[in-house]
Amino acid sequence: MSDKSATLKAGDIEVELPILEGTEGQPVIDVRALGGKGYFTFDPGFMATGSCESSITFIDGAKGILLHRGFSIEDLARDSDYLEVCHMLLHGDQPTKEEYEEFSKTITRHTMVHEQLNMFFHGFRNDAHPMAMLCGTVGAMSSFYHSDLDVGDPEQRKRSAHRLIAKMPTLVAMCYKYNVGQPFVYPRNDLSYAGNFLNMMFSVPAEDYVISPAVERAMDRIFILHADHEQNASTSTVRLAGSSGANPYACIAAGVASLWGPAHGGANEACLNMLEEIGSVDRIPEFIERAKDKNDPFRLMGFGHRVYKNYDPRATVMRESCHEVLAELDVKNPLLEVAMELERIALSDPYFAEKKLFPNVDFYSGIVLSAIGIPTNMFTCIFALARTVGWISHWHEMMSQPGQKIGRPRQLYTGHSKRDYTPVK
Ligand code: CMC
Repeated sequence: MSDKSATLKAGDIEVELPILEGTEGQPVIDVRALGGKGYFTFDPGFMATGSCESSITFIDGAKGILLHRGFSIEDLARDSDYLEVCHMLLHGDQPTKEEYEEFSKTITRHTMVHEQLNMFFHGFRNDAHPMAMLCGTVGAMSSFYHSDLDVGDPEQRKRSAHRLIAKMPTLVAMCYKYNVGQPFVYPRNDLSYAGNFLNMMFSVPAEDYVISPAVERAMDRIFILHADHEQNASTSTVRLAGSSGANPYACIAAGVASLWGPAHGGANEACLNMLEEIGSVDRIPEFIERAKDKNDPFRLMGFGHRVYKNYDPRATVMRESCHEVLAELDVKNPLLEVAMELERIALSDPYFAEKKLFPNVDFYSGIVLSAIGIPTNMFTCIFALARTVGWISHWHEMMSQPGQKIGRPRQLYTGHSKRDYTPVK
């Protein structure tokens, strides 16, 4: 930390506010001393507010840096695998070989969901959006572990985290199978995390599903690239829900709900829908003009980011994967042509340059997922599956820090002042 401070003068008060410094990133003015002095701060959308102290993930949006426990996302995407990244995020560091094997075994042993959970799906319409089913069924998991929900017990927290990481692929695949009217496929312990997920998605009792190593690797990479992203909307939602002492399954269900929106995790689905709507390269200028028109609510989905104002390092890796997978699978997807031309035009347009709007990870991940054969409405579920480790790691970190307070922001009230009430009757 530092011995610097800032002085805030407001009316007749003057408050000395400490300036805190982390290991990386901008210094932070600690405004807590303002409490009880007759003022509080106003920052809708948290444009200049740090909500917590965390040692999990660091982002430098100006330089396009993303680190998990200090390791760069480029190195992780190239040389590690999703379970290793999960171990780092949740348990604080890279696992040893033995720890890695033990962790993989633990996750694999928890992949089945209680048979009774199948019944929940039958309450949904067949055409229910998979995110609607996922919100409900993740929350419902809390009903299966009554005796293991003491959030103050680190061992119980760890078991919940392992269960959630292990069972999310099973639930997500069940959402898909329910949509397409095929039987649920049980998890298989002999497959990798990504391979098992693909098998639960695409195998049917009538024939074996052969997992392509390129597809398995691309799936694992998508999981790595979405594993965590510090205090984004859904992670902050999980923390806020958890700050009241709510159980982890309920908190993750809250995260799933927050992720669903098109400005966040729903962007990959919205991006592919947009590419389909554009349809051909000659229609791109029309959509670029709409994105620039202040009177048109249309935005280029898959472009822009609250934190990355240079480029999204995840997008660079995903772009590479995108080309690899399309070449490997020999997919001739006309949408890719639209996507590449849209990327080229947007990157050379001064409007996007001035506003620092670059393609984000979701611009490319949608194309890869669609090449793998995953339907568009499943994209956000896959993001949720991958982000579960980030959510639960942040929840676990928060619950481990002493002196945690319930998250309770204030407001700038602009309603009526006190007035007289006359009964209607
Ligand atoms: N297309 C056209 N204009 C845009 C776009 C876009 N995609 N994104 C931002 N702008 C403009 C916006 O109109 C505004 O212009 P002005 O200053 O003239 O009013 C300016 O850029 C700043 O936009 P903002 O909404 O204030 O920026 P923000 O930091 O609050 O929003 C964002 C970030 C990601 C919500 C936004 O860029 C967006 O809606 N992008 C499209 C959705 C998307 O791809 N989301 C996925 C994010 S990456 C995955 C994840 O982490 O969830």
